Amino acid sequence: MNKPLTVHRHETLLVPQGEFELQRNPRDENLQAWDAADEFLLNYVHDIQVLSRHGRVLILNDAFGALAVALAGHPVYSWSDSFLAQQALRDNLLANGYPVDQVKTNSGIDLPAVAVDCVLIKIPKMLSLLEHQLYGLRQILHRDTRIIAGGMARNIHSSTLELFERILGPTTTTRARKKSRLVMVERDHSINQGQSHYPQSYELEVDRVYRILNHASLFSRDRLDRGTRLLIENMPVEDRFRRIVDLGCGSGVLGIVAAAFNPHASLLFCDESYMAVASAAANFGDAFAQTRDAEFSVNDCLHKVAAESQDLVLVNPPIHQQHSVGDALAWRMFKDARRVLRRDGELRIVGNRHLGYHAKLRKLFGNCETIASDSKFVVLSSIKT
Ligand SMILES: C[S@@+](CC[C@H](N)C(=O)[O-])C[C@H]1O[C@@H](n2cnc3c(N)ncnc32)[C@H](O)[C@@H]1O
Repeated sequence: MNKPLTVHRHETLLVPQGEFELQRNPRDENLQAWDAADEFLLNYVHDIQVLSRHGRVLILNDAFGALAVALAGHPVYSWSDSFLAQQALRDNLLANGYPVDQVKTNSGIDLPAVAVDCVLIKIPKMLSLLEHQLYGLRQILHRDTRIIAGGMARNIHSSTLELFERILGPTTTTRARKKSRLVMVERDHSINQGQSHYPQSYELEVDRVYRILNHASLFSRDRLDRGTRLLIENMPVEDRFRRIVDLGCGSGVLGIVAAAFNPHASLLFCDESYMAVASAAANFGDAFAQTRDAEFSVNDCLHKVAAESQDLVLVNPPIHQQHSVGDALAWRMFKDARRVLRRDGELRIVGNRHLGYHAKLRKLFGNCETIASDSKFVVLSSIKT
């Protein structure tokens, strides 16, 4: 009989810059902390000797820190909208013998205000984020700055290349290598028109009209998502809800409507995206001025939120982390929600019908009620007993 095939996890990135031990965040036994585009970029910058010892490198959207750790011998700046990515970078620097401040991280809405000699861009899933970043880059490029982007070929479309051409200048691509591709961009300094379209906003009418502002990386930026709408239409209202969490808050619409309908509650807005938390804070401020209590936290799920401290958790779970799809994040969110809920506290979620969240919630809470559904989405409720 044949022995079962054993699949070994690759933890060591082997590139011309050296060997690096890398982990994803959250850890995943089955997935690497880098992709073929990271390897292609690192090989390329080595082969064409684009980095001088003292030249400043800016890295955008490094998912788990693979690029920044491999180039940490240079002055490296890393910008990411993701708290998970920044944590991965910190952990991977430490794992490879570097202090955490070896790479300067920047997580604001805007890119770091330093002139850089080389920019390496991992092409993000959201074109809106790339567009915002390319406009931001114009401020910090000098005449000789090299700009090289990379991604898996399936994520690089003609619209992606048009964006580079329109905002920065002439753009060419390499042949695919291990299904990844590089994009070389030449800055044309005569192209100066236009500016970032983000943040964007729309008006949401519920009990009154709210202005909902969305920074560039947000989900459903120009209108309310249909699933979110179904949860809003089925928002729980109870006098006992004094502490409400909007987990994975995005622009904060769920928490804002929950606050309006539950006037004695204080709110906690959490998201792993810096742009999301900034959007939620702006939107809550716009809706309630200083009249209501709320906290805003860039966080991985509800890390460090005290157990048994909350009455209601609202979630519209993400189905993507970076470019990968799955329900692992939803499961982590549900587990964390259960931990922070008081006895009799409620988790209310909306999700695609086909994702089977019902079974997960029943397994975790021992109960799950269907509150509402349409052809695509379902609103579910579980009570902590
Ligand atoms: C489907 S969107 C929902 C946004 C908003 N609640 C709505 O309904 O419009 C999911 C959100 O979860 C956030 N998210 C993803 N992973 C997270 C994590 N580990 N911790 C906290 N938030 C996370 C994403 O950034 C995104 O804003």
